[in-house]
Order: sequence, then C-alpha cells, then structure tokens
Amino acid sequence: MSIISLQDVEKNYQLGETIVRALRGSNVEIEEGEFIAVMGPSGSGKSTLMNMIGALDVPSEGEVNIDGEEINQMSENQLALLRSKKIGFIFQEFNLINSMNARQNVALPMIFRNTPKKKRVERADELLEEVGLGDRKTFRPSELSGGQRQRVSIARSLANNPDIILADEPTGNLDTETGSKIMDLLTELNDEGKTIIMVTHDPNDAEYADRIVRIVDGKTNPDEDLENQEKLKNKEKDDEN
Ligand SMILES: Nc1ncnc2c1ncn2[C@@H]1O[C@H](COP(=O)(O)OP(=O)(O)OP(=O)(O)O)[C@@H](O)[C@H]1O
Ligand SMILES: [Mg+2]
Repeated sequence: MSIISLQDVEKNYQLGETIVRALRGSNVEIEEGEFIAVMGPSGSGKSTLMNMIGALDVPSEGEVNIDGEEINQMSENQLALLRSKKIGFIFQEFNLINSMNARQNVALPMIFRNTPKKKRVERADELLEEVGLGDRKTFRPSELSGGQRQRVSIARSLANNPDIILADEPTGNLDTETGSKIMDLLTELNDEGKTIIMVTHDPNDAEYADRIVRIVDGKTNPDEDLENQEKLKNKEKDDEN
C-alpha cells in the first residue's frame, strides 16, 4: 500500500471574483521509503501539492490518503493530529521562531504532542547533535548561518519521529556547498527508512531522489500520463490480436 496517494486531486482558491485552479488533476502514488523530487515551473502547483501531501489543507476535488487515512473530510484538529504524528516539515524560509533559541525551536512540535519538558529538551539536544549543531543549542536563528538555520529546521522536522518528511526547496536559500550537506542529511534520513518528498528547482538536488514527480499547470506527470496512455493503447491492440 502507498504511504501517500492522491487521486484526481484538484485545488481551487477563490480570490474575490476569480477562481485560481492551482491543481487540476494530480495523481501521485508514493511508496514507503521512497525519496521523491517534485519539479515544475514557478506557479505550477508544487507547494499546493505539498500542502495536500502534508495534510495542511484538503483538496477541492479528488482524494488524498496519508498512510491509509483519507483526509478529505477531516476537521482542522484531526488534520493537526495526523500531521504531528506522521509528518515533518522543512520549509525554504526555515520558518523558525526568532525569539526562541535552537533548542526551543526543535522542542516546539513536541509540546503539541504533550511530551514532558525534560524529555523535550533531551530529544531536542540529541537531534541538534545529530545535525552537527551540538555547540549551537542556545543560539537564536538570527545568530546562525543559513545552513545552520536549515539544520535546525531539519532537527525540528524530526522532533516527533515522523515517517514522512516534506521539504519545500530545502536548499533554496543556501550556497551550493551548504546545500549539498543538507542533501546528504536528507539522504541519511532516507537510508534510515523515512519517506522523503522534496520540491526542488535544482537538477543536482533531484539527482539524490529515486524518482521525479513533474508538475505543469497543476497537473502531475503529463509525459508519464502520455506514456501510460500509449502503453494502454498498445496493450489494447495486443489484446485484440
Ligand atoms: N492561498 C492562495 N490563494 C490564491 N491563490 C493561490 C494560493 N496559493 C497558491 N495560489 C496560486 O496557485 C498557483 C500555484 O501556486 P504554488 O504556490 O503551488 O506554486 P509553486 O509551484 O509552488 O511555485 P513556486 O515554484 O514559485 O514556489 C499559483 O498560480 C498561485 O498564485
Ligand atoms: Mg512553491
């Protein structure tokens, strides 16, 4: 069974009088343990797709299944619970809280899961050490470099030990060398069995993935669709003969 499954997903945003069709028929199946790169032009719907995969939002049409649970009818609370149990998020802009130090940022998702304070601090410290920031635990985001900030956000994404990690342009704000260290970290997590879904513009980053999901104008893999249609046609022909 797929850990993530999107069937004919459409997402519309209402902006005053106009409707923006951000996703217009996306089909994605992701197996547990896969490392996926999502690629496509700016505005093609990559972040919108990630919002569906990460249960941050529900589709307008179609079905989204996360680890066997259909999210379409879920309430905000149910979505939040699902996210905190199963999904870790890494954002391009890091989304760290500036008034909190590295340790507090990493510990934050554990508060929502009612982890006791002592345990939160222990786990946060452990994760910061894992990403090579053992000596920066009490530094605030503004006192860290871009790469260090991204590592804090990776540590935070791991706080509740999620099976699925979503990364939206995780190296977008980093120089090449720092970016490749972040990619190595993601690869390690994938080797440990985590399913990774990463949006990227960078073909070098996409090289780390097992597979690329392409999205154009809110539609996934138009080429692959064509290929599948060809295959189907050929099969029908074979069946006729
Ligand atoms: N909250 C929203 N309200 C209205 N329109 C939106 C909203 N979010 C996204 N859109 C529109 O949906 C389309 C897809 O946006 P999305 O952010 O998914 O693109 P993207 O592929 O992630 O682009 P980029 O590479 O620039 O990050 C865009 O045309 C965008 O303007
Ligand atoms: Mg985006």
